[in-house]
Amino acid sequence: MVFLSVADLTPGMCLARDITYFDGSVGTIVTMKLGSKLTDMNITQMISSGSVTGAFIDEKSSEVRIISSINTQIKEDAINNLHSLADNFMDSGKGITESDIDKIGNTAEQLIDELSGKKDILINIADIKMYDDYTFHHCLSVAIMSIAIGVEMGLPRSQLNELGVAGMLHDIGKVSIPIEIINKKGRLTNDEFGTVKLHPVYAAQHIKARNLVSTDCLAGVLMHHERWDGSGYPFGLKEEQIHLYARIMAVADVYDALTSNRPYRNPSPPNEAIEFIMGGMGSHFDENVVKAFLRKVAPYPVGSRVKLSNGENATVLKNNNAYPLRPVVTSDNGSLYDLGADSRYMDIVILGLDEPTMEKLIHG
Ligand SMILES: [Fe+2]
Repeated sequence: MVFLSVADLTPGMCLARDITYFDGSVGTIVTMKLGSKLTDMNITQMISSGSVTGAFIDEKSSEVRIISSINTQIKEDAINNLHSLADNFMDSGKGITESDIDKIGNTAEQLIDELSGKKDILINIADIKMYDDYTFHHCLSVAIMSIAIGVEMGLPRSQLNELGVAGMLHDIGKVSIPIEIINKKGRLTNDEFGTVKLHPVYAAQHIKARNLVSTDCLAGVLMHHERWDGSGYPFGLKEEQIHLYARIMAVADVYDALTSNRPYRNPSPPNEAIEFIMGGMGSHFDENVVKAFLRKVAPYPVGSRVKLSNGENATVLKNNNAYPLRPVVTSDNGSLYDLGADSRYMDIVILGLDEPTMEKLIHG
């Protein structure tokens, strides 16, 4: 059973729970029973009723993902382009070419179209994690999340493009670092960490030498490990000394790294990673960037299963953009709690995602 928003319902899907709504056109209450198949007319009525956010659907009757914010083909093309760009990066006789940059620039344009056209959709981490190949999928995830944050901050399209390209290039310098260090299970020695810290410099030197991107884009790549309080690397820059693109990418980078499965660490669930980012607001991260991030990334995506502090288990029905940690949920005993807007439920908090949801979110 999955919960789909009304926008994702299609005729032929089978209801996994009863649903009741008011059909204003004839002034009657309609109840559809578990097992009923949706028709075009039902879906139109649900949308026009204004009271239905979505419905529980039998998964076997649905090919639809819970939230599909980014087109799969765009992601697959992007990963292929990043692979060939990395091959050229490693080929000292060739290097990254203009055509490589054009291709990722086109990907950035497609991502901007996807993310600008769906302003109300929160990014669901499960939807962008689809590859085992960590460095490349991480670069793409950072580009997607950075663009989403940039859209939320109102950046113009030309800057969103540069930000997306910087996101895709940001860790390309890691392909020059020995894989044993990148994938090491234990703690890195000081020397090893010193080597890892050079990856933004490797990338920036390579790109600069070929004059392939704007100075701003280059600054984003070079400074993505700088921290708001000056504790980052490679230069220990502070606050606005750090380019805005890098401040945005820093948040996207840490969030994606925390929620990823790494050889040396288990992944954190999205809600914990979000709390970590919130904890770094104003110390590691730019406060305005974190605020935009919180409006775009769903800690509890629609359809996920959560545990409530009143002892009940519930399903997330609708995200609340103003209070991302307090969505609308329906408990297993049928109660509906709008945790963000209804003061009666102020004392109920979400304790966390349940195990199967975490598994699904993290591993897709
Ligand atoms: Fe990095």
